[in-house]
Amino acid sequence: MRVLVVGGAGYIGSATAQCLLDAGHEVVVFDSLVKGHRAAVPAGAEFVQGDLAHREQIEDVLRRFQIEAVMDFAAFIEAGESMKEPGRYFRNNVCGTLNLLEACVSAGVQRLVFSSTAAVYGIAEEIPITEDAPLHPVNVYGESKLMVERMLEWYGRLHGLRYAALRYFNAAGGRPERGEDHHPETHLIPLTLQVALGQRPHIAIFGTDYPTPDGTCVRDYIHVDDLASAHVLALQALDQHERLIYNLGNGRGFSVREVIEVCRKVTGHPIPAVEAPRRPGDPPVLIASSAKIQRELGWRPRWTSLEDIVASAWEWHRRHPQGYGDR
Ligand code: UFG
Repeated sequence: MRVLVVGGAGYIGSATAQCLLDAGHEVVVFDSLVKGHRAAVPAGAEFVQGDLAHREQIEDVLRRFQIEAVMDFAAFIEAGESMKEPGRYFRNNVCGTLNLLEACVSAGVQRLVFSSTAAVYGIAEEIPITEDAPLHPVNVYGESKLMVERMLEWYGRLHGLRYAALRYFNAAGGRPERGEDHHPETHLIPLTLQVALGQRPHIAIFGTDYPTPDGTCVRDYIHVDDLASAHVLALQALDQHERLIYNLGNGRGFSVREVIEVCRKVTGHPIPAVEAPRRPGDPPVLIASSAKIQRELGWRPRWTSLEDIVASAWEWHRRHPQGYGDR
């Protein structure tokens, strides 16, 4: 299939572009490079620089390459930042994706796989979280993704768009040649590994008074390649299904303190940590039930040990201490 990967120069988008190529699909990457990296785009993919703010750019690409399906990774992704700059998040994540949906309808593209997030659930009442849990985001980022999920439902009903919304828990890990490189970096694992590299003096623990066993937030970490393989499966499944919604995680939670400890073990570095106030918009616990996608599509995470996931990230960071080196 000819697949347009919007945001395919980013962390998860580029890993998925590679996975699509490995599965025999043709791939065109569309990315503004505001957050993405040209060097992350796999060699076998076409690359077009463009921005979802300009609907005509995306429509042109859909027609020019006779695209049959779209995967949408283009979004701002930081929960904490979204609470300081809500307008930027709504404009980019909601208005940009609306342009993409309109362009798909106009160009006759009827399959879309959308990067959604665990942040749509907010503070979950039951753990692990299943797809039918209440949707009450506690940050603007999660709200912006939920708004797109709701738009997708209407575009499905009214325009016959077949779609999958994949709600990721915490993406982590890398490959020797491809990994996580955000500017500024805000994610726990890369920041902690930067301490081990000597690039930061310590890691801050945001909040130690959460209702969790050690008082710090608990997250479910999933390897980026396992996310990527789920996208390829979901795309294939859209042949038989009109609407798919799946959680993607490992089903095990690790506290901030536990993650830092795993990083110490993997790197052999003491990694000093300091306690700091809570970061606004952080739910205390996010752990996925991915039973639905395992049952319905036969997806299985290949990376089930946090130590292995962190080791794969560490290899990328050691080999690329300046990331892709383009900032
Ligand atoms: N944290 C720290 N110190 C830091 C950075 C993070 O204590 O320096 C904490 C956070 O407060 C949070 C946990 O580590 O409790 C994980 O934070 P991340 O920033 O790594 O990840 P988030 O859980 O905030 O968000 C990530 C993605 C979102 C996605 C979400 C789903 O950025 O896109 O996972 O769980 F929606």
